[in-house]
Amino acid sequence: MSKPALLEFAEVSKLFGGLAVITQLSFKVDAGERLALIGPNGAGKSTVFNLISGVYPLSAGRILIEGKDITQMASRRRIYHGVSRSFQNIRLMEHQTAIENIMLGQHPTASSLSDLLTPYRLQRRSPWVEEAKEALARAKLAQYAERPVNTLPYGVRKRIDLLRAVMARPKLLLLDEPAAGLNPVETEELHEQLMAIHDSGITLLVVEHDMHFVDRLCTRVVVINFGEKIAEGTMDEVRRDAKVREAYLGAEVATEASDAS
Ligand SMILES: Nc1ncnc2c1ncn2[C@@H]1O[C@H](COP(=O)(O)OP(=O)(O)O)[C@@H](O)[C@H]1O
Ligand SMILES: [Mg+2]
Repeated sequence: MSKPALLEFAEVSKLFGGLAVITQLSFKVDAGERLALIGPNGAGKSTVFNLISGVYPLSAGRILIEGKDITQMASRRRIYHGVSRSFQNIRLMEHQTAIENIMLGQHPTASSLSDLLTPYRLQRRSPWVEEAKEALARAKLAQYAERPVNTLPYGVRKRIDLLRAVMARPKLLLLDEPAAGLNPVETEELHEQLMAIHDSGITLLVVEHDMHFVDRLCTRVVVINFGEKIAEGTMDEVRRDAKVREAYLGAEVATEASDAS
């Protein structure tokens, strides 16, 4: 028997008030992959992430992590099974400092909650603080450690959000439009940060509109439209696919899509 996939999305359907948003969708993510999930606006990409992370219950189908069925598992428990995510809209504790936000991401790895509940200012030498500081330094964010995140530029806040998601040491990291709103320099920094995260052993599943970004980052692409899979393969393969071209209605898949949600 071969090893089960890291993530298996098996014949999943999701209805919102009778409206089918995801229909019998199946795909797998193997450990070590950098997989992109793409599709036109409203195709159901964020919904797929919300189903994987347990924000919504499924209408039908199953979700497995390393062969274990997590379909019924509470959202907050999924992090213990290796699933972490960033959101399409940044979710940080806006008045807390960068390091305090990073430390919030550590909680699934803490053996006792009291370690982390001790106010940051009283535990300057704790291993958690050290780890958070090292992570900030590796991500070239050390200079922002003590700054409340609501005083920081958007691109920096996005990188802090990403670091927070990684601090839980997930097996699978879900990224919903990580490059949206970033300038070219920030986009390049994000690319490097994601490659470093992948090199540290974390599998990436990325939703992204910027096809140039996807092409550079990802080794395989799953394309959905109206909640159904229409193509799967390398970027070159899906780019040539007639169904994909039709779904994007001439909005050249090879170039940056102009719509962002
Ligand atoms: N909570 C919800 N209730 C009702 N409809 C929703 C909800 N979330 C998403 N949808 C609908 O599902 C479809 C897919 O949305 P979404 O997953 O956000 O698409 P994408 O991320 O690919 O742009 C859209 O038509 C959207 O309006
Ligand atoms: Mg979306």
